[in-house]
Amino acid sequence: MDFKFTEEQLMIQQAARDFAQTELLPGVIERDEHSKFPTEQVKKLGELGFLGMMVDPKYGGSGLDSVSYVLAMEEIAKVDASAAVVMSVNNSLVCAGLEKYASEEQKQKYLTPLASGQVIGAFCLSEPEAGSDATSQKTTAIDMGDHYLLNGTKNWITNGSTADYYIVIAQTDVEKKHKGINAFIVEKGWAGFEIGAKEQKMGIRGSDTHSLMFTDVKVPKENRIGEDGFGFAFAMNVLNGGRIGIASQALGIAQGAYELALKYAKERKAFGTEIINHQAVAFKLADMATQITAARMLCFKAAAEKDAGQDISISGAMAKLFASKTAMDTTIEAVQIHGGNGYVREYHVERMMRDAKITQIYEGTSEIQKIVISRGIAK
Ligand code: CAA
Ligand code: FAD
Repeated sequence: MDFKFTEEQLMIQQAARDFAQTELLPGVIERDEHSKFPTEQVKKLGELGFLGMMVDPKYGGSGLDSVSYVLAMEEIAKVDASAAVVMSVNNSLVCAGLEKYASEEQKQKYLTPLASGQVIGAFCLSEPEAGSDATSQKTTAIDMGDHYLLNGTKNWITNGSTADYYIVIAQTDVEKKHKGINAFIVEKGWAGFEIGAKEQKMGIRGSDTHSLMFTDVKVPKENRIGEDGFGFAFAMNVLNGGRIGIASQALGIAQGAYELALKYAKERKAFGTEIINHQAVAFKLADMATQITAARMLCFKAAAEKDAGQDISISGAMAKLFASKTAMDTTIEAVQIHGGNGYVREYHVERMMRDAKITQIYEGTSEIQKIVISRGIAK
């Protein structure tokens, strides 16, 4: 494994760091407080090429590798985990899925605007009765000849109201179970497509999460992705890569909280000395630094394997499992190190603690990651 980054990778990291400091940091507390989507900031992320990072430039992307993606995601999430999830969904669930599996016509029509950041996308797998148990899809798409008729409800959809294009997973043949599932590209505004109320969340409050309702939505046949019955395999393969994105988001949250805690511990005095001189505090920082370093290695390992074209189902799940626990552990201790100040908004760490929790839930809960890893290693 090569531990040296290329000049290009370091440049991307620096660009993301600069963007996070100048564009995301100033309004991050306010956006969290008012559940405000970072509209302007997401637009600029698109202009800088951060919304289609790994997509071929011929489809409007930046043509970068997954290691660069991890580096950029960490920097964005370090400051604003909400902006980071918008970036992660668009890059690794929507664009990556379309680039790998969509037809040339679909790429021209949908991938190019998505990768160049003109619009953003959403990935719609979860339902009220199908979250972890993703094969239990209740949304149906009935084959009507030249189109499908889509009916059902999707839950918890990130970019739910801000997206223009939605990848929707639906059951087309119940008898065939997960082999009778398909993925479709659905456009906002199509008749019968309704967006539910915005969820009021504990964390990542700047990102918009909605349920989506489909009533007899006509989806042209050419909007199905891949061969008939490919939808579940599509979703699983896309999620393998998506988990690297969320692992990097978790890594960024942890790193952000750790840096604030370290700074605070060096400045805050108690019992006549800086609190970092109390071993109980210093050891917390030692544990944070160690866990974060290990999480970062797992993220880069999964990203490097993805770039090498290897199966990343296990390494992506391991990275997400470990990095999300690191984010939770680190942010809890960062609040503790800040004492009372940790409990108020202006010090950032309480937001980071609330933001961290979701990384153990979405794109497969930690329990689901253990299922993926244990089944993988048992093979
Ligand atoms: N990669 C590729 N294929 C996979 C896979 C993986 N990681 N996991 C399962 N599969 C394949 C299996 O090989 C199998 O295919 P075959 O029959 O062709 O061999 C098929 O999927 C069904 O697998 P299982 O028999 O293992 O099915 P299961 O029902 O027992 O379990 C599961 C499947 C792994 C638990 C799956 O349902 C799952 O991943 N659930 C979590 C769903 C999830 O991550 N949702 C995230 C929504 S998106 C999101 O959350 C975005 C966001 O927040 C920002
Ligand atoms: P459940 O599946 O009901 O799980 C409940 C609990 O039971 C969990 O602890 C789980 O780990 C455990 N459990 C379930 N089955 C097992 C098992 N076999 N073994 C052990 N434990 C088990 N989905 C999308 O499709 N697109 C999105 O953009 C998206 N964005 C999201 C954004 C937010 C803010 C949130 C909260 C969710 C989002 N989701 C999205 C949905 C997310 O992926 C699901 O919430 C998640 O997969 C868990 O599903 P569930 O909520 O139905 O929980």
